[in-house]
Amino acid sequence: MTEEAFDVIVVGSCMTDLVSQSPRLPKEGETIHGHNFFIGFGGKGANQCMQAAKLGAKTAMVAKVGNDSFGDSYIQNFKDHGVHTGFVAQTSAAATGVASIIVNDAGQNAIVIVAGANMLLSKVELQDALPAITSAKVLLCQLEIPPQISLRALQMAQENKVTTIFNPAPAIPDLDPDFYRLSDVFCCNESEAELLTGSSVNNVEEARCAGRELLRRGCGTVIITLGAQGCVVLQASESTSKHVPATPVTAVDTTGAGDSFIGALAYYMAHYPTMQLDEVARRAGQVAGVSVQSVGTQSSYPHRRDLAADLF
Ligand SMILES: Nc1ncnc2c1ncn2[C@@H]1O[C@H](COP(=O)(O)OP(=O)(O)O)[C@@H](O)[C@H]1O
Ligand SMILES: *[C@@H]1O[C@H](CO)[C@@H](O)[C@H](O)[C@H]1NC(C)=O
Ligand SMILES: *[C@@H]1O[C@H](CO)[C@@H](O)[C@H](O)[C@H]1NC(C)=O
Repeated sequence: MTEEAFDVIVVGSCMTDLVSQSPRLPKEGETIHGHNFFIGFGGKGANQCMQAAKLGAKTAMVAKVGNDSFGDSYIQNFKDHGVHTGFVAQTSAAATGVASIIVNDAGQNAIVIVAGANMLLSKVELQDALPAITSAKVLLCQLEIPPQISLRALQMAQENKVTTIFNPAPAIPDLDPDFYRLSDVFCCNESEAELLTGSSVNNVEEARCAGRELLRRGCGTVIITLGAQGCVVLQASESTSKHVPATPVTAVDTTGAGDSFIGALAYYMAHYPTMQLDEVARRAGQVAGVSVQSVGTQSSYPHRRDLAADLF
């Protein structure tokens, strides 16, 4: 089973989103009635994996969910989209990660995340996935699992010349410096770049400046996404930084846009290993730009068949 080589392997999180819509957010101790409820599939790792799979990448997920109905559903969700689940472990020691989300009619929200089983992902599961990690084209990880597990996965990949993409999200101020030199591509958004560098990132110029600082810490390439302004791409091998603008679209829900972008980035790097990274970023931005035009997270991610042929 582990003999097939994967295009993209993701070591990361799975979260079930429990979303209640109500006229307003409840006050402390208050019970109010909402008017709509739905369950969604989330978690940065799974979102990114799913976008890569929807574009046609052969993907595998290394993750831990609970031995509960949410965990069972999550595994089924992966199978429905062709994601290999042989490295998705189930544990009885914690519940599947959940995000309880309340959204009011003005679109404001209050969220409680319980990472649960995600925090129990361990070196045991990494070891089980070792043959798949070391033979994959691209390994992708984030920070919604224990950071030392992400770090170890990046090391395993780098030692075997597997291309690494690291998304330092959610950002932590005291990020282990090893993360930088283990990242072939270090991809984050404005707020994460700001937290990591300590300087403000509100426009293209400031993003170039923060990007240069992140490059100095040892990454091969830095990509900072800037929402509707696209992204900047900086490479250690070149002294220039490139601004890649986004195509203007009517955004209705930007939740998970960054994950769509990163999943697409992994797909393109696996399929077109010699493509210039600013072109890779331009195409990933086109994919993410489609995702913001409909409501939902994974459900808004486009399939290859929904996209223009010149993106492939
Ligand atoms: N309003 C938008 N219009 C067009 N593209 C967008 C828009 N919002 C996001 N994108 C695309 O998605 C990418 C990631 O979005 P961003 O908001 O930076 O990520 P995050 O979800 O991490 O905040 C952007 O680089 C861009 O390509
Ligand atoms: C999961 O729960 C079932 C009972 O519902 C049990 O038979 C099984 O051993 C459990 N698996 C793990 C990994 O705990
Ligand atoms: C960047 O991503 C984080 C999640 O890691 C999110 O909370 C934050 O709002 C994003 N920042 C911007 C500017 O979109």
